[in-house]
Amino acid sequence: MKKHLLSAADLSRDDAELILTTAEELRSLADRPIKKLPALRGRTIVNLFFEDSTRTRISFEAAAKRLSADVINFSAKGSSLSKGESLKDTALTLEAMGADAVVVRHWASGAPHLLANAGWSRSSVINAGDGTHEHPTQALLDAFTMWRHLGDLDGRRVAIVGDVLHSRVARSNALLLQTLGAEVTLVAPPTLLPYGVDTWGVSTSYDLDAVLPKSDVVMMLRVQRERMNASYFPTVREYSRRYGLDGRRMASLQDHTIVMHPGPMIRGMEITADVADSDRSVIVEQVTNGVAVRMAVLYLLLGGSEPAVGGAAHELSGGEE
Ligand code: NCD
Repeated sequence: MKKHLLSAADLSRDDAELILTTAEELRSLADRPIKKLPALRGRTIVNLFFEDSTRTRISFEAAAKRLSADVINFSAKGSSLSKGESLKDTALTLEAMGADAVVVRHWASGAPHLLANAGWSRSSVINAGDGTHEHPTQALLDAFTMWRHLGDLDGRRVAIVGDVLHSRVARSNALLLQTLGAEVTLVAPPTLLPYGVDTWGVSTSYDLDAVLPKSDVVMMLRVQRERMNASYFPTVREYSRRYGLDGRRMASLQDHTIVMHPGPMIRGMEITADVADSDRSVIVEQVTNGVAVRMAVLYLLLGGSEPAVGGAAHELSGGEE
């Protein structure tokens, strides 16, 4: 594994599989009364959030705390960032505080790369979502969730549906799922497919009904209206009718097919409430799995000695507090 996790493309198939198997070991911790390991005791992890977030921030916080790291939450609102401090000065401050890892979410695509590569700090940088670019730990938790339900992802068909244009989740998933051998189809209206998508190595379709029966996984995306500066579709009703997942469409899925959504979801727009709450939906599991996957990432980036899985297993069996 590299020092930073900036893009899903940073991960080889071996890296990704190591994270998934480590996450599987760590996941069992969630079922224990004491959900804590000493693996990262004495290490400091900073959550640096320049954009609103609920589940990603608390997921990283829970992951770091379950590994006994010290966690500092730093959000742009209410900090000197709102007084105009630059990313560089923030990085120097974090460095001076001795951060071992910085988990960064930023509205600007590329901000975590700048933080990692400008030479301002020695910490590991983990991209927790940058603009419309990437969100590698979301892709990892999605792959982990699929893997737990379907086994090996080789040849599995994954449909990613909706606002692909603004989705860092879609981009990171497209990269990681291909690394893991899955076949990805992006389904969206032409206005919500990014320029250059033909170079992503995925299939595209405008026809959700044609893609659903062939899919092993259907991942719905939120329509990111806060990032839209123009009209990408005529009306919400029209969007839902063509690209929303409702009970009728769900009935065309194969028995084993799972339905996913990274959250936050807009019920009634991209997904109806009956689908979101159905047996096929693994949306709540994605949240649980997110903590295990982020524990695995933090452990492997910060503490993991080779062989990391063996190390994790040792900590799990011997090192409990
Ligand atoms: C996503 C994000 O922030 O990129 N959510 C998440 O991290 N769970 C997707 C979204 O905002 O729609």
